Amino acid sequence: MSGPEKQAREWRIGVAGLGVVGCGLIKWLLERPDFAPNGDRVRLVGVTARDRDKARGIDLSGVQWFDHPVELAASPDIDLFVELIGGSEGVARAAVTAALKTGKPVVTANKALIAAHGLELASLAERHGVSLQFEAAVMGGTPAVKLLREGLVGDDVGSIAGILNGTCNFILTEMERTERPFATVLAEAQRLGYAEADPTTDVGGFDAAHKIVVLAALAFGGAPNFAAAEIQGIDQVELIDIRLARDLGFRIKLIAEASGSSKGATVRVAPALVPLTHPLAQAGGALNALFLEGQRVGRLYLQGAGAGAGPTAAAVAADIADVIGCGRRPVFGRPAATLQPLPMLERGQKIDKAFLRVMVRDEPGTIAAISEALAKAGVSIDSFLQRSVEDSGHVPIVLITHPATETAIADAVEHIAALPAVIERPRAIRVARI
Ligand SMILES: NC(=O)c1ccc[n+]([C@@H]2O[C@H](COP(=O)([O-])OP(=O)(O)OC[C@H]3O[C@@H](n4cnc5c(N)ncnc54)[C@H](OP(=O)(O)O)[C@@H]3O)[C@@H](O)[C@H]2O)c1
Repeated sequence: MSGPEKQAREWRIGVAGLGVVGCGLIKWLLERPDFAPNGDRVRLVGVTARDRDKARGIDLSGVQWFDHPVELAASPDIDLFVELIGGSEGVARAAVTAALKTGKPVVTANKALIAAHGLELASLAERHGVSLQFEAAVMGGTPAVKLLREGLVGDDVGSIAGILNGTCNFILTEMERTERPFATVLAEAQRLGYAEADPTTDVGGFDAAHKIVVLAALAFGGAPNFAAAEIQGIDQVELIDIRLARDLGFRIKLIAEASGSSKGATVRVAPALVPLTHPLAQAGGALNALFLEGQRVGRLYLQGAGAGAGPTAAAVAADIADVIGCGRRPVFGRPAATLQPLPMLERGQKIDKAFLRVMVRDEPGTIAAISEALAKAGVSIDSFLQRSVEDSGHVPIVLITHPATETAIADAVEHIAALPAVIERPRAIRVARI
């Protein structure tokens, strides 16, 4: 017998900060107020930012405007406070403090705040019996915080090394790719919106330091200690270093690393040479990446978007879902009573590219016949390769198809197998969508 059905609850949300992340989150909350796995709903009831009149492309009708973030945070009309203003001091800190002191759970994307005042805020949250969540503070939408805080609690993490600042990664990648110096690429990154007008926080390594300090605290079980982090940015990296490092088989990346244990740790951000074959060397452009080593789980690698409205707001929403579900999620993400077996796609609905190897006798007209057989099945060719004749007098013809249904590929195989020049059943292997 199942227990009594839980009544769905409505959570009144207040969002402070209507910039890139704030607007991204609000779009999601308005579109999907029922996204929380436990069936509870969310309702945006209050917002605040600096400029009430700024056009933001979101519908805030019916949502109360607050002139000050602290007012919103302390309001009895909200159940959950989301801080998306930024900065370690000032209004963001005051508002988060006010929300926790009035017994409200807080979700924030603010790495500077957590790195600088994480311990004080954690104590406050515990004293008031509410949660403080900050998944989006590190690696945007890539769940590094959850991995450390939840996924790896059964292990001792010994070291973490990552590319945690997309701006620096973009600049270093472009310097190498286009052989242009730091200042030129930085100016381009500013034009493209990858770098701020004042780029110090990013290129000076401070942003990556905020993030690695937070990860180190989670990994080694200590308080965030930003003051102790060694920090060096990328502004001293010259093109000649990038070229020479590459000649030696390395790529220069801004590496944020932490190693140690609960007894002590080193936390450092600095440019470093990474072997070209290492996954961290492969993460180019504005990507973020993280390499972790646990005593028992061994090496783990995580890579993804470290910023942007969509990914970051997704991480904030995941934290909201955690608060709403009190950290207890239904076993398969939705209440068991609502679950059905997943419908599986049929062959006619599954669309992939395929690799086809056809062994043929070396006769004229064979390729045209194969093309015709493919066309009959509705399959077109993406790329094509013909090897030289083998000793047996047979020739492998290899082709990659454009995306087609499994049924169409199977038909194509049948048509090709029936051709007189084909000496064995063609081999079809799906091209993985990765
Ligand atoms: N952008 C990303 O991809 C990303 C990724 C990960 C984490 N984060 C973190 O997310 C947070 C928000 O970043 P963002 O990129 O969304 O910033 P943003 O676009 O600059 O937006 C900041 C918002 O805060 C408001 N604000 C600033 N000072 C205020 C004050 N004194 N009182 C009230 N509101 C104030 C601004 O108001 P106005 O609009 O009226 O000026 C703006 O709406 C930061 O902690 C950031 O580090 C961002």
